[in-house]
Amino acid sequence: MLAKINNFLAEISAATVNGPDELESFRLKFLSKKGLLSDLFEEFRNVPAADKKETGQKLNLLKQKALDKYNLLRDGLQSSDEKSSYNDLSMPAFPWNHGSRHPISIIRNEIINIFERIGFTVSEGPEIEDDDHVFTKLNFAPEHPARDMQDTFYVSRISPEDSNPEDILLRTHTSSVQVRVMQSHKPPIRTISPGRVFRNEAISARAHCIFHQVEGLYIDENVSFADLKQTLLFYAREMFGRNTEIRLRPSYFPFTEPSAEMDVSCTICGGKGCNVCKYTGWLEVLGCGMVHPAVLEACSIDSKKYTGFAFGMGVERPAMLKYQVNDLRLYFENDIRFLEQFRTAF
Ligand code: DAH
Repeated sequence: MLAKINNFLAEISAATVNGPDELESFRLKFLSKKGLLSDLFEEFRNVPAADKKETGQKLNLLKQKALDKYNLLRDGLQSSDEKSSYNDLSMPAFPWNHGSRHPISIIRNEIINIFERIGFTVSEGPEIEDDDHVFTKLNFAPEHPARDMQDTFYVSRISPEDSNPEDILLRTHTSSVQVRVMQSHKPPIRTISPGRVFRNEAISARAHCIFHQVEGLYIDENVSFADLKQTLLFYAREMFGRNTEIRLRPSYFPFTEPSAEMDVSCTICGGKGCNVCKYTGWLEVLGCGMVHPAVLEACSIDSKKYTGFAFGMGVERPAMLKYQVNDLRLYFENDIRFLEQFRTAF
């Protein structure tokens, strides 16, 4: 019997399997109730007492070896299974259901991308700001209507008699980031500042108390209005298409002189006239101008040495034009049925 056991030990140690069927044959042969081991244990009863100890030990060893080998062969099959499915890098990826980006983020990223390509950096500032950065340093007169409660959400308002009169408010435009950048950087400065802004407006399809802007600022020696115009033309054509025309109309902002508003030829009708452009052929997209010397000086930049241009645009407007979604409220409700429609790589 010992010789038999030794033969089986040799057989077990040499055993290999190719696939689950052969693994099962191995199990049946050695380990099943009607397998070899059961037979040997049966036979063990008849072993003479003198040989029982040695034979018993050998038999237990055989059983252990058979079990170990079985587990080893089974694990080997599993890991080769895994290898075959994970090592094939040409296999298609799992069909994960990716989330979608918010349409406002898509347009904001597009705007950032366009200006980054012509050397603008991105800078951000706080949404809760002080009066100084939102109004005073931007050359707003003390009684300017934009400071009024009707427009501005005040977080805390301090009466003028207070020894430290500093109003804290939600920024009404991203122009406040201009001030922060000018205070912390020396020219040349070439930056855009995307962000959320807040105004005390009744919510409707056409107005909202929260919206998004991208501010632009370029300050260096000899920056001219021609530079502004060319930069904005580049932006308009990248954003709205190669055949887009721009038009600059004189306007007023306290922080720029001269100031202008820019229209682009209607992206819907191409300038012929339709109900989106109210039959004018033009759409207003941003405000801009040459940074007012008083603003440069308030931010400790020498206005004799440096000039600059600035512009500020809303993000919702191009989103509405691009996606033909004409109710602003949809952008803020976060209804999954709306958001799911903006699947894109951006
Ligand atoms: N801050 C202005 C607004 O909210 C937009 C704007 C106009 C920004 C002209 C500028 C600018 O930088 O030069 O309506």
